[in-house]
Amino acid sequence: MSKILDEIKNPILEELNSFEGKLKESMKSNVVLLDTIMNYIVQRKGKQIRPMFVFLTAKLCGTINEATFDAASLVELLHTATLVHDDVVDESYQRRGFLSINAVWKNKIAVLVGDYLLSKGLLLSVNNGHFGMLQIISNSVKDMSEGELLQIEKARRLDIKEEIYYDIIRKKTASLISSACGCGAASTSKDDAIIAKAKLLGEKIGMAFQIKDDLFDYGDAEIGKPRGIDIKERKMTLPLIYTLNNCETSVKKKIINIVKNENEDKDKVREVIAYVKQYGGLEYTTTKMNEYKDEAIAILDTFEQNDAARALRKLIDYTISRDV
Ligand code: IPE
Ligand code: IPE
Ligand code: MG
Ligand code: MG
Ligand code: MG
Repeated sequence: MSKILDEIKNPILEELNSFEGKLKESMKSNVVLLDTIMNYIVQRKGKQIRPMFVFLTAKLCGTINEATFDAASLVELLHTATLVHDDVVDESYQRRGFLSINAVWKNKIAVLVGDYLLSKGLLLSVNNGHFGMLQIISNSVKDMSEGELLQIEKARRLDIKEEIYYDIIRKKTASLISSACGCGAASTSKDDAIIAKAKLLGEKIGMAFQIKDDLFDYGDAEIGKPRGIDIKERKMTLPLIYTLNNCETSVKKKIINIVKNENEDKDKVREVIAYVKQYGGLEYTTTKMNEYKDEAIAILDTFEQNDAARALRKLIDYTISRDV
């Protein structure tokens, strides 16, 4: 893990350590196949950036307690569920540097595993009486499904506008990071205005987070999952949307033809990526990502400044500077 991430984790180190055990515990099953897959997932954990947002916003607004731990597990369980389903939807065979669940166990099992993780997350909040959190999180479960379906609808038509792109990423990604911050705040504060502000903070961070992820897809760096897959899946993300709006008609026709009819051809996909670079699609996208980051920092500045606030600022920077 990177040095900067270690630094950010410092004020919540103990919490993150015990969280690890609690998360593992919440994934157990008596069904051997399921338990095997849960162990596979636990051994290949990701950055766990969402639990960090839970703990840090909790600390930003009050004192970390049992409810904060439940929120962190709940959010990471839901995140994991969406990743397992996402790899089925995107027909993607690599995740966190290893084979994805669908690559090893096939789609049928991956769909059920995702459902299991989702239900375990929701049960965690119901069984502990965290109904406020349940409300926040259920909303993002709905948003994430809508976002993914909106994305598929637009991929069919290839006519996506920049505003729709923001709508998609707000729903499919920003909503869960918004819930992470919202649940973190809700675990330590009863002030509705504070909780709403924490949610908005998370939403801005989440927008920047997904834009960064979409930039990775156009990059050369090894990120533990396939690259160029967005074009292959006809996913029109901001770099491509900008390019299509700013290139000559002949180039536009060429790009659309590749995305529509030759998206399985790696050389053709590379050609599209080259056009995006040529027309400044990556620079434009980076500018937009930074705008969301600045909005997030501006919201963070309105909170009382403590250790958690300082760590959160660094975590926001990490969101857009990370290399994985
Ligand atoms: C990946 O999220 C899915 C997106 C919303 C882009 P992360 O990049 O947080 O995935 P892990 O958990 O670290 O693997
Ligand atoms: C994020 O979009 C999907 C989720 C919200 C799970 P992607 O499909 O781009 O995520 P990655 O790149 O596969 O992690
Ligand atoms: Mg994907
Ligand atoms: Mg996807
Ligand atoms: Mg992606």
